[in-house]
Amino acid sequence: MGSRKRTLAALGVSCALALAVSTTWAGLYSDQLTEAEASGPEQPISFSHAEHAGELKIDCLYCHGPAERSQAATVPAVSVCMGCHEHVQEGETEGSREEIAKIHDYHARGEPIPWVKVHNLPEYVQFKHFKHVGAGISCQTCHGQVQDMKRVYLEPETRYTKRSIFLPTAKLEMGWCMECHLERGAPDDCAACHY
Ligand code: HEC
Ligand code: HEC
Ligand code: HEC
Ligand code: HEC
Ligand code: HEC
Repeated sequence: MGSRKRTLAALGVSCALALAVSTTWAGLYSDQLTEAEASGPEQPISFSHAEHAGELKIDCLYCHGPAERSQAATVPAVSVCMGCHEHVQEGETEGSREEIAKIHDYHARGEPIPWVKVHNLPEYVQFKHFKHVGAGISCQTCHGQVQDMKRVYLEPETRYTKRSIFLPTAKLEMGWCMECHLERGAPDDCAACHY
């Protein structure tokens, strides 16, 4: 009987282990994501703004510096991540060691991390970050509470507009741009936004 009991016990242990591994692993990717966050694209590395911009309080411009001086905000180069992750090899979450190891792999291969873009205007529209940042508009006005997001998603707008009463309207639509431009006396001629 001894052997059977031991096998069952061993089975129990390995099941518990498998369960623990799969739940924490899934946790890194989905369980901890809100429904809205889960609608954002899954990224090649599970980078968390909540961790970096929220808990660690790293300034948005540390990683998106060009937002202040040029058209695009851009995503940071692998070398920016390496500045810290050369030393920080593991975070608090299970599986974080594997995620951080991916940064080292991209760096060693000299390849950029293929981040999936969340906000995307059609090509015939021009948008200039520096004009807006320079006018004192916060990143959060347009992108939502990014410092609380584990995965970035496009946050719908729910305030009252002439077209809707607290109904979500997609951001990055012409009406959304125009409404603020009219309120703030910013250019509203077609050529300001269209080439
Ligand atoms: C007035 C609204 C607005 C403000 C303020 C704003 N953004 Fe953006 N952001 C956008 C739009 C619109 C896009 C999409 C641009 C495109 O697809 O051409 C975008 C795109 C981005 C991107 C994707 C890469 C890129 O450059 O297209 C990043 C990263 C970003 N913003 C970060 C920031 C940060 C950080 C701040 C604050 C310093 C900020 N944004 C302020 C509207 C804004
Ligand atoms: C200014 C320093 C700094 C920079 C820059 C930085 N990180 Fe981190 N990162 C940290 C620290 C510190 C931790 C560990 C936090 C903790 O205690 O969990 C961390 C944790 C992580 C984790 C694991 C999070 C978890 O689940 O526990 C990942 C993945 C990660 N970083 C990816 C990146 C990527 C990708 C970049 C570049 C876009 C980057 N980091 C840039 C400091 C930095
Ligand atoms: C440690 C570096 C780091 C910091 C600090 C940081 N970001 Fe990011 N950001 C990234 C990386 C890497 C991506 C691309 C992966 C992703 O979408 O999560 C990104 C993506 C984004 C996007 C989505 C861009 C797109 O694809 O459309 C926005 C918006 C953004 N960041 C805004 C902010 C804001 C606002 C802050 C400050 C509250 C901030 N970021 C702080 C590294 C950073
Ligand atoms: C929250 C308010 C707000 C939103 C939303 C907004 N803008 Fe603006 N935008 C401004 C302000 C204010 C200025 C004027 C800044 C200045 O005077 O330098 C401006 C300036 C611009 C300029 C520069 C115009 C010029 O020729 O100097 C462009 C281009 C532009 N916005 C495009 C867009 C587009 C495209 C969108 C939507 C995707 C958008 N903006 C959304 C407030 C906003
Ligand atoms: C403040 C910026 C801004 C101004 C000013 C602006 N647009 Fe747009 N426009 C956009 C954005 C952003 C889009 C893409 C998103 C969308 O389709 O709503 C767009 C899309 C369009 C489209 C394509 C719509 C579709 O359904 O495919 C047309 C046509 C257009 N604009 C015409 C105009 C004309 C005509 C004017 C001048 C009266 C104008 N726009 C002024 C920002 C602007």
